[in-house]
Formats: sequence, structure tokens, C-alpha cells
Amino acid sequence: MILVVGATGLLGGMITQQLLQQGNSVRILVRHNSPATEMAKQGLGTPAQTLIDAGAQPVYGDLKDRASLDAACAGIETVITTANSILRGGEDTIESVDLQGTQNLIDAAKTAGVRHLIYTSADGVDINHPNPFYQAKAACEAHLAASGLDYTILKPGVFMEVWIGAVVGIPLQAGQPVTLVGKGNHQHAFVSVGDVAKYAVTAVSHAAARNKAIRIAGPVSYTWTEIVETTGQVLGQSLPINYMPMGETVPLIPEMMSSMLSGFETYESGIDMNETASIYGIQPTPLAVFAERFFKG
Ligand SMILES: NC(=O)c1ccc[n+]([C@@H]2O[C@H](COP(=O)([O-])OP(=O)(O)OC[C@H]3O[C@@H](n4cnc5c(N)ncnc54)[C@H](OP(=O)(O)O)[C@@H]3O)[C@@H](O)[C@H]2O)c1
Repeated sequence: MILVVGATGLLGGMITQQLLQQGNSVRILVRHNSPATEMAKQGLGTPAQTLIDAGAQPVYGDLKDRASLDAACAGIETVITTANSILRGGEDTIESVDLQGTQNLIDAAKTAGVRHLIYTSADGVDINHPNPFYQAKAACEAHLAASGLDYTILKPGVFMEVWIGAVVGIPLQAGQPVTLVGKGNHQHAFVSVGDVAKYAVTAVSHAAARNKAIRIAGPVSYTWTEIVETTGQVLGQSLPINYMPMGETVPLIPEMMSSMLSGFETYESGIDMNETASIYGIQPTPLAVFAERFFKG
């Protein structure tokens, strides 16, 4: 039996659906106050009921409640977690969920005799990173590696569905130009969430994924300007771009994303996927294929 924590999120929902399609027995951690059904309307969540209807077995639990995790882990062979606090709020914070909560889950899994824990981190995390979210993820990677559990750490780049969906999709829907900051000319490792889900599912049984960290991205890196141009080509129209000075607030998109857009123009990121793709047999989704599916599908 596989336990998915974060199943009501975007990535966790895809992982759960792929596991069920392959005939696995899947338990999902669910919370009474989950906003997932509302968020699913914006493509940012997965209603628990959809997963239950597909065959998942729900168990109540919260990363802030250790006893609930002990119960959820009972009889489980593999735990997959994608849970995080970024789109939640209130009592769900970086400290309570991304740091302490994830470590609670690792400890509960160890106590319950779970064999393998698959943790979703992110590319570029570091214990000395200026962003506390990335510090927390680095601390959890270290906690997991020291736990004695078999582990897989997934380290994806920037999610296309979340970021391109907001930065390009929201203004497109509103009939407004896309706003970028700086020159939008720094390359980054973007990845389709569906690819990350495939790695999570493959890691359950692939020997190469045991006690490994796997960096995951698309076939090449892209700049924000290239992303807008490619989306325009896919849609058969030229999409106007407003370039704003670094640090200014980008209209229409969430504030947190606006400030991170400026951050994107201060460094570059890239992951060579050739070797990883051939080890796991997963072909990285190119930007144009993503755009075709996301904006036209
Ligand atoms: N977005 C990116 O570009 C990016 C890049 C690299 C890595 N990642 C990582 O990828 C992972 C998946 O991201 P995502 O966008 O799929 O996440 P998401 O849609 O925001 O999902 C969040 C999930 O975490 C659960 N959760 C939050 N607080 C919880 C708590 N206290 N106890 C139990 N569950 C809790 C939520 O459950 P409820 O529905 O009950 O609230 C939900 O299932 C994350 O770890 C993220 O950091 C994201």
C-alpha cells in the first residue's frame, strides 16, 4: 500500500491518479478544511472525492498532528509526499508544515516500518538559501537522508502549469498584455508537472531511484520571453509583452509570484536531462508540447 501526502494538490493528485491507473493500492491523507475543491477550478488542486471515486482510500491526517501520521503510516510500504504550505496559510506555515510537519512524517514513517519515502523537494534548495522555504526543504532532505529509511528526493525545476499558467495564462484570459520584469532573458529549468508525477511513480519500484536525489526539468531551459513567444506561436497570435523594471509589482498575478519574477532575472538555472531521461525512460516534455496541451487542450 502506498500513502500519498499532498494528494489534494496539483502534483499529488496526478501522482495518485497515475498510481491508481497502474493498479496500485493507494491511501491518501485528507484534511477537513482542504481548499482543494475550490482550487481545482483554477487548475491548482485535486478534489479528494475525485481520487476516492477513482479508488483511493482516504485517511484523515495533518502534518501538524503527529498521531494522525502514525495512524496514516500503519501498514504502508511507500510514502510519497508533495505537501507544502505555499498556497495554504493560517496555521500552515513554512515552519509548521514544510519543516516540522515533513520531519514529523519522516519520523512517523520510520516508526511505522515504512520501507521507502519519496520526498518532493525543489532544484536549488540549500540550508543557507535566503528564502526560508528553500532552507526548510534542504533541512528535510538532510533529515530524510539521515533517517535510515530508503529514500528518493525529487528535485524539480519551475512548474510550467503553475508559473506559465499564471504569468501568461491570467493576462491572456483577461485580454491584457503579458507583463515581464527586467528583460525576461534569464534561462530557467521549467518542467511540466506531469513529468514530475511520472518520476514519483517510477521511483516507487525503480532500483536506480533508491537513496538518490533526482533533478528534473524539461529538455532545455527557457527564458520568460521565449515562453511568451512560444505560447503565441502555438496559439497562432503574437502576444504583446510589457517589460517592467525589476522589483515592480506585476499586475493580475499573486504578489508572491510577482516578487519571484524579479528574482528569476537575477540568476539562471538549468538541468541536463539526457542521462536521467534514459535511466528512467521518461522523455521530458518540451515547452511547445506543454503549451499546446495547456492552452489548447
Ligand atoms: N510550484 C513549483 O514551481 C515547484 C517547483 C519545484 C518543487 N515544487 C514542489 O512540488 C510539490 C508539489 O507542489 P504542488 O504545486 O502540487 O502543491 P499544492 O498543489 O500547493 O499542494 C499542497 C498540498 O499540501 C497539502 N498540505 C498543506 N498543508 C498540509 C498539512 N498541514 N498537512 C497535510 N497536508 C498539507 C495540501 O492539502 P490540503 O488540500 O488539505 O490543504 C495539498 O494536498 C511541493 O512540495 C512544492 O514545493 C513546486
